[in-house]
Amino acid sequence: MVQMEVRLPPEMEADDLKARERARSQELQRDGSWVHLWRVAGRYANVSVFDVGSPDELHELLSSLPLFPYIDAHVTALARHPSKLDQPTEEERRLMSERANQLISDILRRVHEAIVENEVTYEEYQAVKQWFIDVGEAGEWPLFGDVYIEHVVEKNAFGDRAGSQGTILGPFHLPDAPVLEAPYELPRRPDEQGDRTVVTGRVTDTDGNPLAGANLDVWQADASGAYSGFMPGPPEGNLRGQVRTRDDGRYEFRTVIPGPYTIPLDGPTGRLTAAAGWSPWRPSHIHLIVSAEGHEPLVTQLFIDTSDYLHDDVASAVKDELIVHPEPTGKGDELGFSYDFVLAPIHAPVPVG
Ligand code: BEZ
Ligand code: FE
Repeated sequence: MVQMEVRLPPEMEADDLKARERARSQELQRDGSWVHLWRVAGRYANVSVFDVGSPDELHELLSSLPLFPYIDAHVTALARHPSKLDQPTEEERRLMSERANQLISDILRRVHEAIVENEVTYEEYQAVKQWFIDVGEAGEWPLFGDVYIEHVVEKNAFGDRAGSQGTILGPFHLPDAPVLEAPYELPRRPDEQGDRTVVTGRVTDTDGNPLAGANLDVWQADASGAYSGFMPGPPEGNLRGQVRTRDDGRYEFRTVIPGPYTIPLDGPTGRLTAAAGWSPWRPSHIHLIVSAEGHEPLVTQLFIDTSDYLHDDVASAVKDELIVHPEPTGKGDELGFSYDFVLAPIHAPVPVG
């Protein structure tokens, strides 16, 4: 840390010097060596933090400032404090950097190979660059990731986990949905469209013991395929809520059968999908995160067996074990289906390295 007091002779014309000082300071900030810069209120002085390897380097840097001959500098060497929270150790830093190097190199190598194998042209490269910009501007990176990447991460991370199958989270979960009261019914409009259905089942551990008070965080699209909070139509909180299991691990909630939907067609993810000639549809599904103390939370979806697009889900998230078969319950027009969830015991944290 350097406290700098600038003492210019009162009669000195220093506009040019100050402009050069500003330019040099911004250059050093941009290259990462001038990490913090604070003005001391009411004085021609600042407090700065520099990231340098040695006192010599700091001296070289300070003496490169156009105002250096007029600066009174007090230097305090700062070291990492062992009690600071969330500070990776040197070993953790080294391992993270190795991991970053491995992943980034591998991904870039495969991109480079694809470019060479497919003889990608400069025009195509410029179009891809524009598409990257469009995805950022449209805020679609989470959507793109969840449509085209998340399913592989999910299968790879949880493919051999004990208990029920999970699948992707997707971009439409909202945390802190209201905890509902029994008899459970997802909040819906008085004129909500879609077949009424009752969903029942049990939550158990891998030995079959019931998990009392387990939580099911449920969210779904309406019958037209719209999610509340993300798409015009449904009011805030529509078809979202948290449901708890009883002492015997059983749960029951009422809702409507959701509709299939397309990812947004007018954005860059939709344009990429159309350009490749792929279907933009997701089949009808209900999302759940099932959780209980001492167990791994299960992020999953239940797919309605009568839905179209079960076999060409744009997000590649359908698993056979997650397909349900709603049937009439005999109570009016109501349909119903049952699904039992088995939660794996919580993993002991794996030490880094
Ligand atoms: C969803 O399930 O809601 C979803 C998943 C991936 C991309 C878009 C939507
Ligand atoms: Fe969904």
